[in-house]
Amino acid sequence: SPAQLTRAESLIAITPDFPKPGVLFRDIGPMLQDADALRTVTEALTAPFEGGFDLVAGVEARGFVLAGAVAATAGTGLLPIRKAGKTPQPTASVDYALEYGVATIEAAGDLTGRRVLLVDDVLATGGTLVAAARLVEQLGGEVAGVAVVLELTALGGRERVPDAHAVFAA
Ligand code: PRP
Ligand code: HPA
Repeated sequence: SPAQLTRAESLIAITPDFPKPGVLFRDIGPMLQDADALRTVTEALTAPFEGGFDLVAGVEARGFVLAGAVAATAGTGLLPIRKAGKTPQPTASVDYALEYGVATIEAAGDLTGRRVLLVDDVLATGGTLVAAARLVEQLGGEVAGVAVVLELTALGGRERVPDAHAVFAA
C-alpha cells in the first residue's frame, strides 16, 4: 500500500560526507531490518517485471541482498555479480566509475537464453548498472529490466539507464 511504501522510504538512513566528503549517503540498512518494509520494497521491485525474467542479478554488496530477495520472491535463479578478484575463472569483466571511486565486476557462466532482471539498492551515476548490463550481455544473456530501490536524480543515472524502474526517488 502507499502507506507501507512511505514507511519503507522513511527507513532509508541519510549520512552526510560518507564514504567521502561531499557525498550524501543513503543506506537501506534500516529498511532491510524491518520485515514489512523489506517485503513491500521487494514486491515493488518485482511487480513491473513479473513473468518477464528467469534470473535476477545484483552487484555486491548491497545488490546481492536485494537480488536474492527478488529471486526468492519470484522463484527464479540468482546471479551474484562480484567485484574483481573474487571469481576463480571469470569469463566476463567490465570496468566502471562510481560516484566515489572506480571498480571492476566479473562473473562466469553461460547466460544464453536467460532473461535477466538487474537489481540494486541505489541508482546514482548509473555506472554500476550499465556495467552489470554489459557483463550480462558478455555472458550471452538478455537484460529483461533494471530495478532499484532509490534513484538519486541529481546524479544523472537516469540518462544512462533510461528504462530503470525506481521504487523511490530523491
Ligand atoms: C553502490 C550502490 C550501487 C552503486 C550506485 O555500490 O550499492 O551499486 O554504488 O552507484 P552508481 O549508480 O554511481 O554506479 P558500491 O559499489 O559502493 O558497493 P557496496 O554495495 O559494496 O557498498
Ligand atoms: N548510497 C548507496 N550507494 C550509493 C550512494 C548512496 O548514497 N551513492 C552512490 N552509491
